[in-house]
Amino acid sequence: MGIQSNPNLSDFLDSLAANLKNPNQISQLEKTFIHRPASFRVNTLKAKEQGVINSLAKQKIKAHKWRFPNSYYIDYKLTKTLQKTKEFKQGLLYMQSFASMLPVIILDPRAGENILDVTAAPGSKTSQIASLTQNQGSLDAVELDFKRHQRLLKNLKLLNVDLENYCQTYQQNALHFLENNPQKTYDKILLDAPCSSSAKIILNDSSSFQHITPNFVSKLARLQSQLLQAAFKQLKPKGSLVYSTCSLDPLENHLLISDFLANEPSAKLQQVAMPAVEGLEYQLEVPQRVIDQTLQVMPNKFIESFYVAHLTKIHA
Ligand SMILES: C[S@@+](CC[C@H](N)C(=O)[O-])C[C@H]1O[C@@H](n2cnc3c(N)ncnc32)[C@H](O)[C@@H]1O
Repeated sequence: MGIQSNPNLSDFLDSLAANLKNPNQISQLEKTFIHRPASFRVNTLKAKEQGVINSLAKQKIKAHKWRFPNSYYIDYKLTKTLQKTKEFKQGLLYMQSFASMLPVIILDPRAGENILDVTAAPGSKTSQIASLTQNQGSLDAVELDFKRHQRLLKNLKLLNVDLENYCQTYQQNALHFLENNPQKTYDKILLDAPCSSSAKIILNDSSSFQHITPNFVSKLARLQSQLLQAAFKQLKPKGSLVYSTCSLDPLENHLLISDFLANEPSAKLQQVAMPAVEGLEYQLEVPQRVIDQTLQVMPNKFIESFYVAHLTKIHA
């Protein structure tokens, strides 16, 4: 299906072009709406990096090192082969896009910290946090949807996330969870918000974009904003909150962060910078620091776009 025969996609791209500092970037962007090499993290809760890579090589799966911790990529055509290996089935590795690894790298979880993952299923980032902290400290992971919560639990068990002494999951609306547990406060919070997924568009797969309507996006933006306000309340002074989406829409990203900062004097934006990850530059009616200090990844053949904002709390 081409763009012109898909009004949702064509409307979406037109409105995106209107917000870009250099509207020519839209044609560059379209070229990146493709299948990328398959990527994964070695699960350091269960395996040693080199052992996994050597074993894959013996099975004729050549994995190339990438620049994030424990991260690799393989030819997209080898995805099914990888999924048949014992390394995949036993959770010695976890398939995750590089873009999806980014928010946790920015959050920089450390052993001993109290951490909250507000919207957690299927657990890519919950397990990434557990792997980086080696199950030390405490991690609460909340997920609204029953089936997705089951999948979260299944993944966390497979990946050796310690569900007795480290990570507690809750199948609840995070808004209720936060409201009903005001005594729970956190050093670090990840809000990887439910979003329109417009950064995951694949041009020849209309199911990747036919849901993206203005009404859908504005409803999501309302929920994202409520989740951000409620989560930020539970952040300890000097704590860090990372807000992320796999959306390209400023309504879910820059505009939302800008509104939040205008109403939350104790929030301070921190610079998000990732060496060798280029940003997309928007031209929006928001304070320039929101454009300069948050990151909307410019997608390329390795990484899809993702939006990441890093907030700290300067006082209670
Ligand atoms: C972008 S996904 C999270 C992906 C996850 N962080 C990961 O890396 O695997 C957003 C999740 O939020 C959940 N969700 C939506 N509304 C929610 C709410 N009010 N409370 C808790 N979870 C919610 C969705 O069911 C979905 O699983």
